[in-house]
Amino acid sequence: MYKIAVIPGDGTGPEVIREAVKVLDAASKKFGFQYESKTFDFGGERYLKTGKTLEDKDIEEFKQYNAILLGAIGHPDVKPGILETGVLLKLRFSLDQYINLRPVKLYNSVFCPLKDKKPEDIDFVVVRENSEGLYKGMGEFQKKGTPEEVAIQISYNTRKGVERCIRYAFEFCKKRNKGKKLTLCGKTNVLTYAWDLWERTFYEVAKEYPDIMTDYAHVDATTMWFVKNPEWFDVIVTDNIFGDIITDLGAMIQGGMGIAAGGNINPKGVSMFEPIGGSAPKYTGKNVINPLAAICAAGMLLEHLGEAKAGKSIEHAVIDLCKNKFKSLAAGKMGFSTQEAGDLVVKNL
Ligand code: IPM
Ligand code: MN
Repeated sequence: MYKIAVIPGDGTGPEVIREAVKVLDAASKKFGFQYESKTFDFGGERYLKTGKTLEDKDIEEFKQYNAILLGAIGHPDVKPGILETGVLLKLRFSLDQYINLRPVKLYNSVFCPLKDKKPEDIDFVVVRENSEGLYKGMGEFQKKGTPEEVAIQISYNTRKGVERCIRYAFEFCKKRNKGKKLTLCGKTNVLTYAWDLWERTFYEVAKEYPDIMTDYAHVDATTMWFVKNPEWFDVIVTDNIFGDIITDLGAMIQGGMGIAAGGNINPKGVSMFEPIGGSAPKYTGKNVINPLAAICAAGMLLEHLGEAKAGKSIEHAVIDLCKNKFKSLAAGKMGFSTQEAGDLVVKNL
């Protein structure tokens, strides 16, 4: 019996999570695993009512679960930063989900904004470091509010943190067994402390993986290759901020935020799966948002728990819809409502 914590969150989060849970229910019947879930109301509304984001005791409760399914965090009436740091980053950091795993896979070339790119050209995975770097929140103001003001934002990289991320990426690349190529995406030509550590660690760990081809690309060039030659990539490993940025571009070339899912992973702890697009406030409550990203996140969650067959089956159900039914992956243009889209996945399982 798995225990799954569900955080629908803000905006369209609850709508897409409803469909993802519907699919989890159907998958549990079909594939014979059992789970119980509890829904938590962390997010903007709760913050506006109580002034609270997420407390240490809440984190302790999440530690009792096998996995977390998250909708979206972000509310138009809450100042940017509060919910992101107080809920999303707090979960990632406190549960030490040090990997952010983001597959970029095109299911149907008509959804790709790039000319002449086919599903076989866009199929890679970004392994984003998820616990350090610029996201650590280190820095300070000096002489704030004066003409001499200085704002310092530190990228914090530890050997241990970098190494565990790089090791994960090599192992992942080996298990994936596709292109057997791992690309380090960095900025060694300018950020000479952080990327010196990353590069040294990368090539040291690489010695233990003679079967994996290694490559390096600067982050700016990486965005160029994503558009020009996405077929060059198999697995990419990068730091927190670069991973954040390149995976939004990745989402666009796979068909948009409606289909992009990711996992915040602690290989020995509690991991959390989420659609990577935001709370999309303007579509809230309209039953038009695309739930496929959340459904794919639920599929990743099941694979992570060891229910590989169920996870794969969900992915195949989604692929079939992308190939044969959906007009578009964008909100309001799918040819189906949010609810209908969820029903179709269930029917397809
Ligand atoms: C993401 C999001 C978050 C991030 C924000 C909401 C804090 O953009 O998951 O990519 O920057 O990691
Ligand atoms: Mn992001």
